[in-house]
Amino acid sequence: MDIITVKDKSFKPYISEEELQASVKKVASKINDDYKGSTPIFLGILNGSFMFFGDLLKSIDLECTVSFVKLASYEGTGSTGQVNELIGLNEDVEGKDVILVEDIVDTGNTLVKLHEILSEKKARSVKIATLLYKPEAYKKHHPIDYVGMEIPNAFVLGYGLDYDGLGRNISSIYVLND
Ligand code: IMP
Repeated sequence: MDIITVKDKSFKPYISEEELQASVKKVASKINDDYKGSTPIFLGILNGSFMFFGDLLKSIDLECTVSFVKLASYEGTGSTGQVNELIGLNEDVEGKDVILVEDIVDTGNTLVKLHEILSEKKARSVKIATLLYKPEAYKKHHPIDYVGMEIPNAFVLGYGLDYDGLGRNISSIYVLND
């Protein structure tokens, strides 16, 4: 694998497809154990989580439902600090066990917004499953329940994650080469 250019920036290989799939399986197996006997709803946060969501759900053997919300907080390679709800939650989550599925937890602003929405809608429980987690950037207090991999505070791309809308279709993860 080589260095790639996306728009005006170059990125180098960072996490291989094999490593990603191993992390996805690890997260799925913990969720399968923890939610035995329950019918959780998996709530994907669009756009970034679509690849992780699909691969994760293929390894979930629970009875479950799925839904999506669309939120955005990033412009280019940085967080704006403000989370906009682009497509809201139209599912009835009252009394349900919700598992939020994120591509990456960075500052945690997105998570806080989701917790607000879900507690208003009276979910019974809310847990978070994220493929990637940047502990150095995380500024909030909600526990991150299921983490595929922890990474340093760097900008990454691929497997659903974008740079200005581009690169989501790449099947492994690249990191900004600066
Ligand atoms: P948070 O609200 O700051 O935790 O950011 C979460 C969202 O920001 C993620 O769902 C991504 O869409 C985006 N994001 C955070 N870090 C990166 C990155 O390194 N590359 C691409 N998108 C990112």
